[in-house]
Amino acid sequence: MNYKVPVIPGDGIGPEIIAEGKKVLEAAADKHGFSIDWTEYPLDAETLIREEKLVKSGEFYISKGPVIEEETLKELEKYRAIYLGAIGDPRVKPGVLEKGILLSMRFYLDQYVNLRPVKLLEGVWTPLKDKGPKEIDFVVVRENTEDFYIGIGSRARRGISHADFEVKRSLYKIKFGLDVDTDSEEIGYQIGEVSKEGCRRVIKYAFDLAMKRGQKVSSVDKANVLSEIYGFWREVFLDVAAGYPQVKHDFNFVDAITMWFVKNPEWFDVIVAPNMFGDIITDLGAMIQGGLGLAPGANLNPEGTSMFEPIHGSAPKYRGQNKVNPIATIWAGAMLLEHLGEAAAAKDVVAAIERNLFEGGIKTYDMGGSSTTSEVGTEISRLVHLV
Ligand code: IPM
Ligand code: MN
Repeated sequence: MNYKVPVIPGDGIGPEIIAEGKKVLEAAADKHGFSIDWTEYPLDAETLIREEKLVKSGEFYISKGPVIEEETLKELEKYRAIYLGAIGDPRVKPGVLEKGILLSMRFYLDQYVNLRPVKLLEGVWTPLKDKGPKEIDFVVVRENTEDFYIGIGSRARRGISHADFEVKRSLYKIKFGLDVDTDSEEIGYQIGEVSKEGCRRVIKYAFDLAMKRGQKVSSVDKANVLSEIYGFWREVFLDVAAGYPQVKHDFNFVDAITMWFVKNPEWFDVIVAPNMFGDIITDLGAMIQGGLGLAPGANLNPEGTSMFEPIHGSAPKYRGQNKVNPIATIWAGAMLLEHLGEAAAAKDVVAAIERNLFEGGIKTYDMGGSSTTSEVGTEISRLVHLV
């Protein structure tokens, strides 16, 4: 079997960590009798500046048109899984690459589940006192295409103005026409939106996952304040929950769940959260599982094209130093293999990561070691053949 996988190394440390991910996945492919052909997509700031898709404006580079062409998105849509490094060159105005590349792909490819396992592996230090691998083992299912991420908002100055917005989705379309009348000097506003279809599919995904893991689904919201958007989320949640009488469920306000992550992480099995809260709590989740260097993520469209990436950013200050931890990216690669149906190979990659961490001899600086990015990748590739 041969798989064709597009790979977007990105910028900052992206190319270095992706190189190690590819190395380990190729070792797993070798062991399990399949092969992977990588097609590289150079969607990094350097290339985009050279191609004049990013142009200098004042202190930063900004985009002239779409950062990814629709043509490229259409091409990517033909694949089942994309492997992504990290994006976020500091020369570019904050938000341009994040929205232009990462969010563009999540939205265009309708990757409505952002799956983020929070699992403390054996031998990894956690800042939580008296908690170990038995207590820290849950999955966050983050909604990935709605909420405050839909990009609707603007500024308005004193007086009367009008703004039109349109969101076109594969599921539905919405238009907002807003009349703004303010006597403030200037306001900024952003609209969050969730739909019945959008909530239902991701909550259903969480319940199906809990059926396999066998325990419960915890919802995250702020229905006590943002009662329209998250009160609605709760209604849909209850509706979906009614179809799964075997699975327990509970509701958590987002502020409170950050507290429980620290005090009682063992309470959780599957957590389902709207986009922005899911973003916030998974950075906390990453910390309790040993740090951002270990936290993988999958942007899933179970019916279409999914994308696998570490949840951390591109750490520009470490770029080119062969220093950062490649494990989050390698682990995301294991999720990619599992998605392609190579479950045994995926399991071996995770087992090799676990063994590397447990043995503890070859590790990067963030874990108290002094090995390089590529030494860790090479070691995990070697261990893939031994586990
Ligand atoms: C993440 C990141 C992104 C997000 C940014 C870079 C747009 O923080 O994947 O968690 O907010 O989703
Ligand atoms: Mn984030």
